[in-house]
Amino acid sequence: MTPEQFVAGLPKAELHMHIEGSIEPALFLRLARRNGVALRWQTEDELRDAYRFTDLQDFLNLYYDGCRVLVAPQDFHDVTRDYLRRAHADRVLHAEMFLGVQGHTSRGVPLAAVMEGVFGAMDAAEAEDGMSSGLIVVVQRHRSEDEALALLEELRPWYGRLLGFGLGGAELGNPPSKFAGFFRCCRERGFKVVAHAGEEGPAAYVREAVELLQVQRVDHGNACLDDPALVAQLVRLRIPLTVCPLSNLKLQLVPSMAAHPLRRLMDAGLCVTVNSDDPSYFGGYVNDNYLACQQALGLGRDDLTSLARNSFEAAFITPEQRSAAFRAVDAWVAHSIQQAAA
Ligand code: ADE
Ligand code: ZN
Repeated sequence: MTPEQFVAGLPKAELHMHIEGSIEPALFLRLARRNGVALRWQTEDELRDAYRFTDLQDFLNLYYDGCRVLVAPQDFHDVTRDYLRRAHADRVLHAEMFLGVQGHTSRGVPLAAVMEGVFGAMDAAEAEDGMSSGLIVVVQRHRSEDEALALLEELRPWYGRLLGFGLGGAELGNPPSKFAGFFRCCRERGFKVVAHAGEEGPAAYVREAVELLQVQRVDHGNACLDDPALVAQLVRLRIPLTVCPLSNLKLQLVPSMAAHPLRRLMDAGLCVTVNSDDPSYFGGYVNDNYLACQQALGLGRDDLTSLARNSFEAAFITPEQRSAAFRAVDAWVAHSIQQAAA
């Protein structure tokens, strides 16, 4: 069995992807036509050509602009359903998706249109593919904490369906501490909490996310390696990192995949997971990320299996779902060993 075949059949969870970052060029153009949205690009190739970024802010400018093609509930449904289909094809058994609601409501899209579309697609994936998923609302860190708190209130009708809250967007200059009150409110309401930290920002932001926001996972977290005491704390508390290797490469946070810190994070004893972040912009879905690391960092089957097991350990799922997922991973590994012996 080739590494490609092993990764393709390896059961996994995806815990860090932005729904808005999964609009494939073809759907992007179709949605723009459907909604009469004028674009700078006319073809899929022109769009793909535009996906070159110098840093996170450069990417976010294009990403927020791209959100304009999402208007009606059906648009949110289509993009979410497409992602979940692709994830299912990558043998993702469970996906936890980020949604940057403020990027839509600030353009006048009703909150209900966004939520209806996304939840409808999640229900369809469960019914048609038996795939489970959860939704995490990510607040934009360049906006104020008051705006985040107002959104938390507006989301009340959907509390029963929401998994939790996260923090995303322009990291530098917008430390986690800016949202300490918001995260406390989220925790008090029983939500899971996660935050992007240490992607472009320093280790101190990862520490703030853990100590002030009390996050259950850190999104990215790469910069923690600059602070050995923080690494020890993350290991002791077993706080997972949702690492996004191709994203880091495309945003020029690492010069090459060979220089990516994934292996060092794993060797430090951290609970590391591999994810796609914004797959249509960064050139790959979750399996592409596993394979890029496998090839550049020489990961073996045991490493790939650990990453998959970590993804289920870190997922916000029930103990029954977790046990079933671990059994599925074990069964796939046993199958691959049998194949090799045959
Ligand atoms: N929103 C979408 N992708 C993001 C990323 N890589 N970092 C921060 N916020 C994001
Ligand atoms: Zn992200």
